[in-house]
Amino acid sequence: MARTLIAGNWKMNGLRASLVEITAIAGGVTPAKENVEALICVPATLLMQAADQARESALNIGGETCHTNEKGAHTGDVSAEMLADAGASYVIVGHSERRADHDETSEIVASQAAAALRAGITPIICVGETAAERDSGKAIEVVTGMLRDSLPEGASAESVVIAYEPVWAIGTGNVATVEAVDEMHNALRSCLADVYGAAADLIPILYGGSMKPDNAGDLLAVKNVNGGLIGGASLKATDFLAIYAKA
Ligand code: PGA
Repeated sequence: MARTLIAGNWKMNGLRASLVEITAIAGGVTPAKENVEALICVPATLLMQAADQARESALNIGGETCHTNEKGAHTGDVSAEMLADAGASYVIVGHSERRADHDETSEIVASQAAAALRAGITPIICVGETAAERDSGKAIEVVTGMLRDSLPEGASAESVVIAYEPVWAIGTGNVATVEAVDEMHNALRSCLADVYGAAADLIPILYGGSMKPDNAGDLLAVKNVNGGLIGGASLKATDFLAIYAKA
């Protein structure tokens, strides 16, 4: 059975003053719950300080993307090794905002996930369909295809996390129905089983897209949902901790 991961994604939000929320979240998740991990992924500018503040707690800190290379002439980019050095234990790769804003293909995402593994941190590989893809009845086909193409070669099931985030549900308040989430997460689990065999059961599959304290209980109760990737509701410690309490 996969562990549960309640993960926040701060995106391009947060100044140093926001770090009080990290301290509050770190305090709220300590002592740790058995088989439930807490994580906040922060902008690179806040990573080192957030990791320092969370060090004595059960809260993990992560990055939001990484370059595929370890170092070199890539002005403005951050490598997985740099994230690890700053205190990250996870990194989000292939978020739909990165895929859209920076033309990150599934092939690039697979390389970023491989870079994370090279640096010793866990990639959270994001996949999800657009509204048009769902309306055309192709959501399952599109998302399982994205998953297959975004998995790093040679990874073990213990070393990756998947997040299903329908693009139309992100930041919109339009959360996917429990039925649609159930169908998609079952399809993703079978797809992972094709690659990893029985060990696929160990891979957390998170749901993301307008998860809030009031809908988290229903979403987290779905069989193959092993946690959440939470944007807006992770910026306030009270909201994030209310979701963590449902896990
Ligand atoms: P949201 O974002 O919770 O604000 O919808 C989720 C995400 O993009 O990871």
